[in-house]
Amino acid sequence: MTLTIEHATQVLRPPTDGLPYLRHDRANELVLDPVAVTLGGDRIAAFEPDAGAAVRIDASGCAVLPGLVDCHTHLPFAGWRAEEYEQKVTGVPYEEIARAGGGIAASARAFAQATDDEVLGQARTLAAEMLATGTTTFEAKTGYGLSVDAEARAVRLGRELGADRVTGLFAHAVPEAYDADTWMDYVDALAASCDVDALDIYVESVAFTNEHLAHLGAIAARERVPLRAHVEQFNANRSVPVALAAGARSVDHLACLHPDDIAPLAGAECAAVLLPGAEFLGAERVAPARELADAGAICVLATDLNPGTSPVSSLPVVIGLAVRRYGWSVREALLACTLNAAWVLGLSDERGSLEVGKRADLVLLDTTVAHLPYRFGRNPVNLVIRDGEVARVRPDAAWRISA
Ligand code: NIG
Ligand code: FE
Repeated sequence: MTLTIEHATQVLRPPTDGLPYLRHDRANELVLDPVAVTLGGDRIAAFEPDAGAAVRIDASGCAVLPGLVDCHTHLPFAGWRAEEYEQKVTGVPYEEIARAGGGIAASARAFAQATDDEVLGQARTLAAEMLATGTTTFEAKTGYGLSVDAEARAVRLGRELGADRVTGLFAHAVPEAYDADTWMDYVDALAASCDVDALDIYVESVAFTNEHLAHLGAIAARERVPLRAHVEQFNANRSVPVALAAGARSVDHLACLHPDDIAPLAGAECAAVLLPGAEFLGAERVAPARELADAGAICVLATDLNPGTSPVSSLPVVIGLAVRRYGWSVREALLACTLNAAWVLGLSDERGSLEVGKRADLVLLDTTVAHLPYRFGRNPVNLVIRDGEVARVRPDAAWRISA
């Protein structure tokens, strides 16, 4: 089936085809021309209209973007921790919340108590919310299992959910009755036995150390999967040089990134995954995103969707936060949750940008791109095409489609 999208005001495209990623000092080269887009089956076929197309979409007044890519979520998880959020904002320290049984351990208990159907039901509802705000590709992580069996269950549920990538965050918190060194032996065994696309670790005073990060790097190399790492969220632990030496694909969070680590990270083939939802809702420090972009880092934005630090599923909200708090242009924000995010997941050869031959994942906004961060909190997505199929149409946009 051919489908043609006509009369768009803007269509976001890379400066040239075939780029695996685009460093952020070149984000202003992204093109926003008013071209037509024609899809043939599940692929982008041409940037010109097809008079004989079976389906025509009138995109007048719209911006057309590649489907958004959320490369850092903690789906699947069970329940929420809304009471903790109220405690946090009214001044109860995190350690106190954790001592009272809250934090990651609370989500692990909820995960253990929920049936597979309950976990998948909640995750599917969130995946539908994400699709409605333009996310056509997402990653899922384990990490709320906190036992060997429960972590393996999380991998299985991530696959059943249909996540495009499943990351083993086996080193998320140290389970009760273990110390971190001993638990790393189980992390090693899980990495060897589970079908995961990447490995991840949380480096922080309350979790794992830089030595554990280097150890996970060796495990990831052995398993031939990318290494990712949650680093510098609440404290500067100088984990970035360790992650770079271990060949990490991404370092995520970076709110407390040491200034001396900006240039080495920007020069490396390792993405800086920034999570402004967690920064904002957790009153964390703000990552040096302007400096990273100016220095030419491969910058990425993601939701960090999880029940603790970032119960946020919308990339348009994340874009709004990033533009305001990082001092980023709209092009910089869009690059960070399209092509560069697809690169983190090893998918940028077929997703993340509008190019002939790439997968037909597209989003129509009901405005130009400048409105996206400006009308903060509003969902401007009125139509989503995933894998060549119209996957979501807002009722007020139904008139745009004629077959
Ligand atoms: O990415 N920082 C570690 N992990 C999650 C939050 C986990 C939680 O509080 O449930 C994050 O922010
Ligand atoms: Fe996270």
